[in-house]
Amino acid sequence: MRILVIGKDGQVGQKIQNLVNKTSDTNYSNYDFVFIGRDELDLSKARNIQAYFKKNKFDVAINCAAYTKVEQAEVNENDANLINHLAVKEIATIAKKNNMKLIHISTDFVFDGDKSQPYIETDTTSPINIYGKTKLAGEIAAISIMRFNTVILRTSWIYSEYGNNFVNTIIKNAMLKGKLNIISDQFGTPTYASDLAQTIIVGTFNLIEEAKSYWQSLQGEKKETFRFLHVSTDEVYGDLKASSDLFSEETPYNPSSPYSASKASSDHLVRAWYRTYGFPILITN
Ligand SMILES: NC(=O)c1ccc[n+]([C@@H]2O[C@H](COP(=O)([O-])OP(=O)(O)OC[C@H]3O[C@@H](n4cnc5c(N)ncnc54)[C@H](OP(=O)(O)O)[C@@H]3O)[C@@H](O)[C@H]2O)c1
Repeated sequence: MRILVIGKDGQVGQKIQNLVNKTSDTNYSNYDFVFIGRDELDLSKARNIQAYFKKNKFDVAINCAAYTKVEQAEVNENDANLINHLAVKEIATIAKKNNMKLIHISTDFVFDGDKSQPYIETDTTSPINIYGKTKLAGEIAAISIMRFNTVILRTSWIYSEYGNNFVNTIIKNAMLKGKLNIISDQFGTPTYASDLAQTIIVGTFNLIEEAKSYWQSLQGEKKETFRFLHVSTDEVYGDLKASSDLFSEETPYNPSSPYSASKASSDHLVRAWYRTYGFPILITN
């Protein structure tokens, strides 16, 4: 299987590279990963994308590239739209033609932030800035072109050792200034880029692909009764307070640690395999 990772120099792209290189001997012998950045493919022109995919064929594309400068997008709408929307549309169009699966990273900025509970996938989108609007346009384009071969992972507040992010900025400024004045009315779920990379690539991905192939090879009753049992955790719902109701399957996800966030992400991935391929699943939390 040939897997293309677009955006190799970004936080998530670099983490996927680290992960694959670190464990390639044991886990990835059947996978041929290709990592590309802006030098190999500038996404701002549709003809570059077409030319690249004419020469290079893949089974899966993971798009980690994006115009991520949220404030600058307000004055550079055209650039943000080219990368976050039109490039995604072009990739999805090519992916559909070539029967390639697309894993695309998106953002909580597709929502307006007015909800007091954590957002879930089915909540109404209503972006309030250009970045969010262009990312949502990219999502909609990919899903409408290739509903059954697209997986969209909406994440938020990515941090890592690389690049500009909230954690690095605070550390840098704390060391420089000692005292910091910071807004206190913004809330988010920080996501360690390594956890996101692991979720995209490792365990769930490998296991579920193997299980899907096995399921597809089955016939008749065996195929009908097959279930992929994904054992998760109640920690995806957050912390149970003495005063709160018991968790149920309807409780919104609200993971509060990297571990529970990674479990929540793999739950979503398993559900995506069900929605995309009809792959029969059972999830226990
Ligand atoms: N960072 C966050 O807090 C956050 C939150 C929610 C969702 N997300 C989403 O998560 C994904 C990954 O984010 P990240 O933090 O890893 O982003 P990042 O570190 O800003 O990396 C984005 C990458 O996209 C590349 N890129 C931008 N314009 C390009 C172009 N015209 N052609 C080719 N490549 C181009 C950049 O290349 P250069 O290195 O050459 O500039 C960069 O390597 C993105 O889809 C983002 O929207 C991020």
